[in-house]
This record gives sequence, structure tokens and C-alpha cells, in this order.
Amino acid sequence: MQSLEPYTAGEQPKDKKYIKLNTNENPYEPTPALQDALKNARSLRLYPDPLAAEFCEAAGKANGLPADHVFAGNGSDEVLALAFKAFFDSPVLFADITYSFYPVFCEFFKIEFLLVPLRDDFTLDAAGFLKPNGGVAIANPNAPTGITLELKELQTILDYNLARKRVVLIDEAYVAFGAESAAKLIPQYPNLVVVRTLSKSHALAGMRLGYALAQPHLIEGLRMAKDSFNSYPVDSLAQAAGTAALRDAAYYEGVLSRVVDTRTWFVRALTEMGFRVLPSKTNFVFAGHDRIKAAELFKRLRDRGVLVRYFDAPRVRDFLRITIGTDEDMQKVAAILQEILS
Ligand SMILES: Cc1ncc(COP(=O)(O)O)c(C=O)c1O
Repeated sequence: MQSLEPYTAGEQPKDKKYIKLNTNENPYEPTPALQDALKNARSLRLYPDPLAAEFCEAAGKANGLPADHVFAGNGSDEVLALAFKAFFDSPVLFADITYSFYPVFCEFFKIEFLLVPLRDDFTLDAAGFLKPNGGVAIANPNAPTGITLELKELQTILDYNLARKRVVLIDEAYVAFGAESAAKLIPQYPNLVVVRTLSKSHALAGMRLGYALAQPHLIEGLRMAKDSFNSYPVDSLAQAAGTAALRDAAYYEGVLSRVVDTRTWFVRALTEMGFRVLPSKTNFVFAGHDRIKAAELFKRLRDRGVLVRYFDAPRVRDFLRITIGTDEDMQKVAAILQEILS
């Protein structure tokens, strides 16, 4: 067995019923339109459409791009993995605090990486990415901080890398919760790949659906990487469900604005209790309190049936990442935090 350091996902416990705020799942159900879509899905006797054409059409339409600008995968993790394989050489640049799967992909594909430190306030310094590289990966909004980089700043990174023919990958797993998407820059930048997931915004984490948006030559690069490995990745049920979800924008606008409203309320509640809360444009908050260690708070919340995420890593071990659940859940969590602190 090779000594790879695998990604550690948040736990999915079975021992008791928790208020589960540790993996950034959406607290609401996916669109009811899914039921009909699943009934009418392509027969399971047949292989799925290898190009997921209908899904790509729907994803393109949702982002103002033609279907040939879309690539579908089993969750954005798979799309990210294929993008690392297809586009990146050593060294890939990414932030020192970001999605912890990026170094794992690098190790798996034997690509070196260089970490670009976030500033002390955890904002991303675009200047740090203006150096020779074999590719750039940026989660925007970032995880686990929740902080967003403005498109204007992103463009400085795109311009620098365009001149050097390097690909810039923007992972927009959380963009739907209030940030601005870089998808509108795709016609201008032949070196831009935007990766999205339906796990969070469309409440479909269990279905495993993600996609990339880019100009067709990059989409072709992803297809080649996929077809060299497994040409039928997205199954027929997932394609049907994802298409129905992407077509029901009205339903999801309601879901997203509920999550954002709850986040606004919860951030205020945390701030009033003396927490330091980083400014979030996601469905989670990253927060710490100087009166109690985050590791201790994590344990005390778990004992009281609340599951959040704690990263025992440099710079972030004073924080907890707390997913935004329903109003009812977050009110309970706020009350429990108040009790622990008093
Ligand atoms: C920044 C980021 N990118 C990608 C993903 C992967 O999402 P999925 O594979 O469910 O699409 C996550 C999941 O937590 C994430 O936080």
C-alpha cells in the first residue's frame, strides 16, 4: 500500500440523532419536482448518457452558457480530481487554508504544490498567486473560512496566468449562498475553469452531482481525462434528478434565501455572545471564542447532541466550522452555546 494521506470527511454518525452541522449539507429537502424526474428517468437497463447532455444543457442554461461549456461529474470532488489530472503540472498554487482535498489530489496525481498564505485576517491576497506555477486552485468563497475574493482581484490572477497559458480553477461549491460567480468571465478567459456542486445549494449531497464550466477546449480536456478512466460516471437517476433541480430555480431561490436569513440571525447571535465570526458568504460560519478552546467547545457541543467541524491544524485550531441548519436548529444551538459559556 502506498503511503497516501487521505482526505478526512466529516463524520456521518449512526449512534444517535444529532443536530448535524458538520458537513455543510443543506437543511431543506430538494425540489419536489425530483420525484417525477426520477420516475421518468432513462431505463436503468440501459447505460447512462456518457455526456449527460440534458444535464449539461440545464447547467449551462442556469449559468448563461451553452451546453458545450459544461462537464458533468459525480460530485464536484470527482470534477476537481479530473481537473487536477487534466490541467495541472508542478507546482500548483493554492491557499494555506482551503479545501483540504487539494493537497490529497496533488499527492494522488504526483503533482507538487506551493501554499500561498492567507493574510492574518484570513482574506486571500491575490498578489501571492502572481508567480510562476503549474496551475492555480482557489475555493471562492473559501472553505473553511467562508470568506470571498472579489472578481476584480480574481481577474488579476486570471490575467497573469492567461499570459502564461496556465489554468485557474475556481471552486464555487458555496457561491450560491451570496457570492458572485466567476462564470460570467468564462467567455473572456480561455484559462478559467469554474467548478460547482449540487450538494449544498441544491440539497443533493446524497446524489453526487457536480459540474465544471469552461470554454469547450477545456471541457474536452476533462472529457479526455474521464474517458481514460471511466466513461460512464454520472448515473441515469443522478442525471435526471440534477436536471430537474437545475430547472427549478424558483424553488431553490426560496431555499437559499432561508439559509442566508438564518445565517444572518446566527452570526448576530454568536457575535453578541462574544464570538469572533469571519464574514461568511456560505452556508456555514467559522467562529471562535477566546474564553473557551475550540476543541473543548467541539466536545461539549457533541455531548449535547450538536455536531460541528473542528480542524486540529495550524491557524485554524481556535475556530469551529458550523453549518447553517434550520432556524429551529440554530436557535437550539445558540441556546446551548449560551449555556456552555455562562
Ligand atoms: C470547497 C469544496 N469544494 C468541493 C466540495 C465537494 O463537494 P461535492 O463532492 O459534494 O460536490 C466541498 C465539500 O464539502 C467543498 O467544501
